Amino acid sequence: MRKLITNGTIVTATDKFEADILIEDEKIVQIGYDLNSDGAEVIDATGMYVFPGGVDPHTHLDMPFNNTVTDDDFETGTIAAAYGGTTSIVDFCLSTPDKTLKEAVQTWHEKADDKAVIDYGFHLMINDANDAVLEELPQIIDSEGITSLKIFLAYKKEFQADDKTLFKTFVTAKESGALVMVHCENGDVIDYLVTKALAEGHTEPIYHALTRPPQAEGEATGRAIELCAMADAQLYVVHVTCAEAANKIAEARAKGYKVWGETCPQYLLLDQTDLEKADFEGAKYVWSPPLREKWNQDVLWNALKAGQLQTLGSDQCSFNFNGKKQLGRNDFSKIPNGGPFIEDRFSVLYSEGVKKGRITLNQFVDIVSTQAAKLFGLFPQKGTIAVGSDADIVLFDPNKERVISAETHHMNVDYSALEGMKVVGEPISVLVRGEYVIKDKQFVGKQGSGKYLKRKKFNQGEVEIDTVPTTLS
Ligand code: URP
Ligand code: ZN
Ligand code: ZN
Repeated sequence: MRKLITNGTIVTATDKFEADILIEDEKIVQIGYDLNSDGAEVIDATGMYVFPGGVDPHTHLDMPFNNTVTDDDFETGTIAAAYGGTTSIVDFCLSTPDKTLKEAVQTWHEKADDKAVIDYGFHLMINDANDAVLEELPQIIDSEGITSLKIFLAYKKEFQADDKTLFKTFVTAKESGALVMVHCENGDVIDYLVTKALAEGHTEPIYHALTRPPQAEGEATGRAIELCAMADAQLYVVHVTCAEAANKIAEARAKGYKVWGETCPQYLLLDQTDLEKADFEGAKYVWSPPLREKWNQDVLWNALKAGQLQTLGSDQCSFNFNGKKQLGRNDFSKIPNGGPFIEDRFSVLYSEGVKKGRITLNQFVDIVSTQAAKLFGLFPQKGTIAVGSDADIVLFDPNKERVISAETHHMNVDYSALEGMKVVGEPISVLVRGEYVIKDKQFVGKQGSGKYLKRKKFNQGEVEIDTVPTTLS
């Protein structure tokens, strides 16, 4: 299989240039001019940006959560991701105290292996770092290439870990070369505030936000940072929403701590008032941490621009409004937490970020693809356009306009949290390891064609993770 992509403008995290790309057997084999295209299918990318495929570091597909299961599985979720320009995801594998880690990972392979249409890896969620788990962990990191672990400091009585568990996980991660991802909210304080609000008769969705104040996120972020530093380990703070947390991360990085942060499209584009929508529509915007006051959006954009936050995860965790979100009709604390963003993550970052001058074109690639590949042990196989890299490529029309709607999206969920939003720029064709998955906006991929990604250990190969691109578009 040979393909030649010609006449396009290649954009990476550091460069923008016109050249052709020759693909052979899943890989990029040459980048340049007048390449020998004998026997190659020629793809004309005139007027297009040629981006590396997006890497989404944060998805929850087919995951049991909040007494139900997320509505997108590895088939629908990865098809939607591909339509949106994402060619690799790292999904959260849930471990439970009744199973070994090996069994938990096996369960996730069974969910994914015959379904995914793009490449995928797993993070491992740890809720009880008991002796058996800590003993098994290094083997799983080595044998499965699962080089990132997730701890929740919220969701009391479901996933919440105590500080000892968090600290032990940092110590093990340091020894085994894994990155620790932490959901930073103070679950005990939230539990108290939720119980109090319900006792006072407050059942509406807005109380989801009012019982999870930004200080609860800031406190937990600071705690995770200090425990990480005590263990001399490495921390990735997931879904940062507010100044309280973003500032803690910036301060830690200024001290040289090994701390990185992710935000999500929802926190850049939506705000707390969405939870006040009438007729229980506010439930469509219930996820954790919650949406914040609007001014936080500028804090997050500025943190991305300044390189204080490095990545954009979708936190894809879709629940239908009918049937699932409705479970919390009379009690906001029973609304399943999560929203659908896997499909629009890439294009809204371009439209709202690059088109509106908030980030540069190179920063867009860095945030949507490269940094996640570097942090999660996939670079340079993924996350860039370079000779030897997988031919994961998005042909992107930067001027195409569309309106986001549940009527036209491909996620298996009955609403869009971004309904009606106008977006400029759209992925037209998407290749995974040199094969079309999306061709001229049509899905042409094959169920189960996605490959499992065994990932490198944290910073194995001395990848320069903190590069903040300076090339202006
Ligand atoms: O509400 C959310 N974010 N659901 C997914 C689980 C998590 O906390 O990441
Ligand atoms: Zn979380
Ligand atoms: Zn999540």
